[in-house]
Amino acid sequence: MSTTTDATFAWSDAYVMGFGPMDDTHEEFVACVNAVLQAPDARMLECMQALREHTESHFAAEDAWMTETEFPARECHMNEHAAVLKSVIEVQQLVEQGNTEIARDLARELARWFPGHTDYLDSALSHWMCKQTMGGKPVIIRRDIRSGKIDELLAQS
Ligand SMILES: [Fe+2]
Ligand SMILES: [Fe+2]
Repeated sequence: MSTTTDATFAWSDAYVMGFGPMDDTHEEFVACVNAVLQAPDARMLECMQALREHTESHFAAEDAWMTETEFPARECHMNEHAAVLKSVIEVQQLVEQGNTEIARDLARELARWFPGHTDYLDSALSHWMCKQTMGGKPVIIRRDIRSGKIDELLAQS
């Protein structure tokens, strides 16, 4: 029996942090998690493999940015990456053994986890990387969905 879920995880401008390479990676993260959420059983293993590969390179890139630039608050951020990656790898192994439902549980959990992680940890790293690479604060442009206006926000550092 194929059990799919109605849950979706969609990209939102609220996730834009201002450092381009990070924003591109985060958009891919949302797409990979959403693919697992939506996958029928027959496609779950390939979607889970893609999520695992994405997660490894996503976290490795952020960890490298933090290490190479000696970002001050990197330890707790890197520890959180390691814990999440461990869960992704464990779930992928269970999917290989035929447990597809656990992948949907993981995807729902990742969709809950991501907004807080980006707000508290990735946003600080994004500001830092913009300063390192461009010598200034990131300019973040978000659509204001409620008013329909385009709001231009200068991120505080
Ligand atoms: Fe990230
Ligand atoms: Fe991160």
